[in-house]
Amino acid sequence: MDMPWGSAESGKFVTNVGLITSNGPYGHNVMSAEWTHHVSYSPGLVMVNVGFDKATEANIKKSAVFGVNLAAFDQNIIASISGGSTGKEIDKIAVLKELGVEFYKAKKINVLMVKGAALNAECKLFQAIKLGDHHAFIGEVLTASATDKQPIAYSDGKYWKFGEHVMKPPPEELERIREIVEKHRKK
Ligand SMILES: Cc1cc2nc3c(=O)[nH]c(=O)nc-3n(C[C@H](O)[C@H](O)[C@H](O)COP(=O)(O)O)c2cc1C
Repeated sequence: MDMPWGSAESGKFVTNVGLITSNGPYGHNVMSAEWTHHVSYSPGLVMVNVGFDKATEANIKKSAVFGVNLAAFDQNIIASISGGSTGKEIDKIAVLKELGVEFYKAKKINVLMVKGAALNAECKLFQAIKLGDHHAFIGEVLTASATDKQPIAYSDGKYWKFGEHVMKPPPEELERIREIVEKHRKK
């Protein structure tokens, strides 16, 4: 079956918003991708799922590099603009600059990076896999840095800011759980 965008089921997933920067046939560009995932520690790999019709898809296929800028909690407008039009028609970098958003040149690859993001990671294409209706670009992280800002969360088609930290149960309850786990250890 399909699980389309906007369905109740797909809206249950909690994702982050990668501001994916690229440079290629469509010039410097930025798009929003909620399907941005850290998928390996060593080497550090980040996977971004990009629709086949996107300017970003063409850019990454050609240049084999991309920037992952995880939108911070206060970057929802950047996420909406980056996801609201295509770099085939609109110079989104110019739009964002005019709105006061700052970019810097990546150190290891020829793309722009978004200032003030929760995480900036410069990636070299490691593998590309066609997965259903998207192209999964897996990038090897060449250099990365995190800020102390929390990433924005995306769920049910809306942006969210982290709220309360869910506390662990008290020590007695943790001990009871540990005993039950031990009781069911496979011989
Ligand atoms: C919050 C948000 C998350 C999105 N996530 C994705 C995604 O994971 N993959 C994707 O292909 N498109 C996603 N989109 C849609 C693209 O960002 C949108 O189609 C954009 O115009 C593509 O830009 P480009 O053609 O310049 O690459 C998302 C849009 C928004 C607003």
